[in-house]
Amino acid sequence: MCGIVGYIGFRSAKEVLLKSLKRLEYRGYDSAGVAIVNGKINIAKKKGYIDSLEFGFDGTLGIGHTRWATHGVPEDRNAHPFLDCKGDIAIVHNGIIENYMVLKEELVNRGHKFTSDTDSEVIAHLIEEYYQGDFKEAFLKAVRELKGSFAIVAINKNERKIMAAKKDSPLVIGVGDHENFVASDIPAFLEYTNRVIVMKDGEISELTDDIVHFYDFNGRNIEKKNVEIINWSIEDAEKSGYPHFMLKEIFEQPRALDSTLHSLLSRNDMDFDFERVTIVACGTSYHAGLVGKYLIEELLQIPVDVYYASEYRYRPDVVEDSLAIFITQSGETADTIAAARKAKVSGNETLAITNVVGSSITSYVDRVLYTNAGPEIGVAATKTFTAQLLALEYFAIRAGESMGKLSVSQVRNFINSLRKIPLYVENTLNLNDIIEKEAKKIYKNKDMFFIGRSMNYPIALEGALKMKEISYIHAEGYPAGELKHGPLALIEEGIPVIALVPEDITYDKMLSNIKEVSARNAYVIGVSSNMDVGKYVDTLIKVPETELYLSPFVNVVVLQLLAYHAARLLGRDIDKPRNLAKSVTVE
Ligand code: F6R
Repeated sequence: MCGIVGYIGFRSAKEVLLKSLKRLEYRGYDSAGVAIVNGKINIAKKKGYIDSLEFGFDGTLGIGHTRWATHGVPEDRNAHPFLDCKGDIAIVHNGIIENYMVLKEELVNRGHKFTSDTDSEVIAHLIEEYYQGDFKEAFLKAVRELKGSFAIVAINKNERKIMAAKKDSPLVIGVGDHENFVASDIPAFLEYTNRVIVMKDGEISELTDDIVHFYDFNGRNIEKKNVEIINWSIEDAEKSGYPHFMLKEIFEQPRALDSTLHSLLSRNDMDFDFERVTIVACGTSYHAGLVGKYLIEELLQIPVDVYYASEYRYRPDVVEDSLAIFITQSGETADTIAAARKAKVSGNETLAITNVVGSSITSYVDRVLYTNAGPEIGVAATKTFTAQLLALEYFAIRAGESMGKLSVSQVRNFINSLRKIPLYVENTLNLNDIIEKEAKKIYKNKDMFFIGRSMNYPIALEGALKMKEISYIHAEGYPAGELKHGPLALIEEGIPVIALVPEDITYDKMLSNIKEVSARNAYVIGVSSNMDVGKYVDTLIKVPETELYLSPFVNVVVLQLLAYHAARLLGRDIDKPRNLAKSVTVE
């Protein structure tokens, strides 16, 4: 996820672009850049925050970008905008160009010189390749060559216009008087205009000072486009109208998962050979690791140990011939980084799963799998967690394939089922109103329990963690079978017990555990795709039915929403819970 913006009009483009980019900084902040036309194309771009971008040139037509790296580490040369060889065309891009390697090779053979490691740079060169005096024509031809997801904004020094294209990445037009705007999101230009046209997939727009034309990718006119009037404040708009970043990020999960899967599917370096696995992480990432343990042991039939990073660091130096996986969404957690160093010294092969390209963890490991969830602003991890689960599922499948533990048809079936996850999650999000009603019933309780078994035991832990950290309600996650070994003593009338009951080998046992707490008059909320569970619980939240191993994805979304609504009802500072920070860079 990146933020892009384009401006054409009468104001200082420098001022408009810098302000707009600041408004889009929540979409990514590892590098920023602008290109402004003034006789020629002037360009300034830099690794780091937008505030570090300093330049003297100005004009009234330009484009800008704030980057969340997906290809190429954050460095000045990988920052957008990108120019063609002559420096006449500049582009900014959000998304992933899946066929960029093929395109780049062809363009290099035709003499184009590239300056970055990004997929985006091919777009500028492709437009140049087609340019014969008609910018719109060249832009259309270039866009037709691209595969993947993209929002592209381009300018050319010879024609006073902006061209933009959208496919699977957001792009909106701001309509002004003698000025027009294009951006990834409305807050970018809301200070200047509240008249908005939303671009749809497969659309091209051509902006001049006074008019915006729309075309399909074949250049045919699109006549009817609605202008919407936006009445949100800028702050509301940054959250796309959601009251909190956390809720926005919970609802972004289908897209985050889709884009994570796409980037994983494009990997061709997924060959592995190991006899045991060690997973190391903290907090929510540790819970993802526990789900990974069940999955890897099931699919690969090899032992997996999972450690909190802060514990792993101080265990004895046992030389082991294992693959050590470090899960950290930020890539900056001090304990996880220290653990990765230690694992390397102990002779392990190392792999990191992170959401931040070029983050510190990536320099301490042999290989990296990126989740592609986009920046997460809310302190409580949500979309990065489900993206980690997906990365672990994908890893287990590909490792199983390369180690000959899964057949070709098994791999195909598993991958096909992964493709359905965004839809399962989308359907679970539709339960939001029902979940909110449940939150209203339980938010005044001082304590609650979350129970599950097998792969849903870590989901119970995660549900309890989400509840504690944002609502400040005391919540415990337990393997359901453990209740009778102690915690059952705490069950009393009305205490909420949230029970995860997937339709797998744990089903019957979970029903027995539910009976144990019901008999003590607990208030039981069942989360299951099986309506029969309704007979055993006080309320059933019926989630979509999924393939085996995928129930954690739907169950955790229910628990994220339950925690969110409980915290909101209690008036908590949801995006910045007390005493916590997004990245824990101290031991
Ligand atoms: C909880 C949460 C934390 C993090 C933990 C590890 O919602 O976000 O528990 O999961 O601090 O952070 P990363 O994944 O950045 O290493």
